[in-house]
Amino acid sequence: MRTIDELELGGKRVFIRVDFNVPLDEQRKVTDDTRIREALPTIQKAVRAGAKVILASHLGRPKGRDPKLSLEPPAGRLRELLGPEHEVVLADDCAGDGVQKVVRDLKAGQVLVLENLRFHKEEEANDEGFSRQLASLCDAYVNDAFGTAHRAHASTAGMVPFVAEKAAGYLMKKELEHLGKLLKGAERPFVAVLGGAKVSDKIKVIENLLPRVDALLVGGAMAYTFLKAQGVEVGKSRVEEDKLPLASKLLEAASRLGKELLLPIDHIAGTSPDEKSEAREVKERAIPRELMGLDIGPKTRELYRQQIRRAKTVFWNGPMGLFEVEKFAAGTREIAMAMADLREAVTVVGGGDSAAAVNEMGFASRMKHVSTGGGASLELLEGRELPGVRALEK
Ligand code: 3PG
Repeated sequence: MRTIDELELGGKRVFIRVDFNVPLDEQRKVTDDTRIREALPTIQKAVRAGAKVILASHLGRPKGRDPKLSLEPPAGRLRELLGPEHEVVLADDCAGDGVQKVVRDLKAGQVLVLENLRFHKEEEANDEGFSRQLASLCDAYVNDAFGTAHRAHASTAGMVPFVAEKAAGYLMKKELEHLGKLLKGAERPFVAVLGGAKVSDKIKVIENLLPRVDALLVGGAMAYTFLKAQGVEVGKSRVEEDKLPLASKLLEAASRLGKELLLPIDHIAGTSPDEKSEAREVKERAIPRELMGLDIGPKTRELYRQQIRRAKTVFWNGPMGLFEVEKFAAGTREIAMAMADLREAVTVVGGGDSAAAVNEMGFASRMKHVSTGGGASLELLEGRELPGVRALEK
């Protein structure tokens, strides 16, 4: 796969697919600009090389044109980050005659942000006509939207064959290197920490990682499905009843492979999954009938910390509990801290909730890599080929 360094950019119209699908607050202010900052090296490279830069992204999942999902806020944030010497303009659409004209008038070093690609249903439908329209805007295509690489859409896959030159941006390259290394050549001991609500979201990742890791530490609500599958009382905890046989199978697979699959040995529990609930320590594996597990307990935190401490590679995806509520955040914080404390090891955090937790808790800069892709990083670790990556390789 070629990277942006191998493209001749000067004077060319360069279309960069970025993932500016960032969270906004009620005032439509960007609340986490990580994805925009992470795309800066690629954008700056093109700008400095004198390219006419066209940036394209989706934001949210609009049904048709929706002013609330305009790319105006991310474009504004980009303008601040690039500084006054660079001109950033927002187009009012991403295809059509008006945009063609704006692109024709673009000057070297200028940055044009196209309006939300998903205002056109043809984007997600990966429509050929729409792909050709996007392709007609540019001379070269760069994909730096790792977070959207698992989608086979017009801007991530469909348009690529219709552009003469194509390459991966720096963020795409960095993500593929760090996450790819976990599947091939990770230094051992390799410890994976998986959490989050559902076993069903992580089945394929567990199956694919089990043969590669030395230990798998499980937390979050999905741990209760595993505990119940072992016949442990889990009270009112969230359990995926239909996934119990599968949880048993994964536990069997781990023991067959001689891998440690660790489950919580104590808990922080409550009566409801919210702020109102009191937080009670449950000092054993079994959870009383009237309670639900909402975080891992202190003994589990210590056990998991010890496992992480001996690792040369740690991958983490999914919170250990209801971390949005402070009284149930200790488990998630402990994993982040244990990873941040490692000096020599390779520490990789999957995107989505765990990346948000690491960012909010201020540990991001002490990790080797924090992925910008939620679904994309999981699909990659499931061993699947990502359409956005395949398109660049063809
Ligand atoms: C993400 O945030 O995971 C990506 O931007 C993809 O968004 P999507 O799940 O709406 O396709």
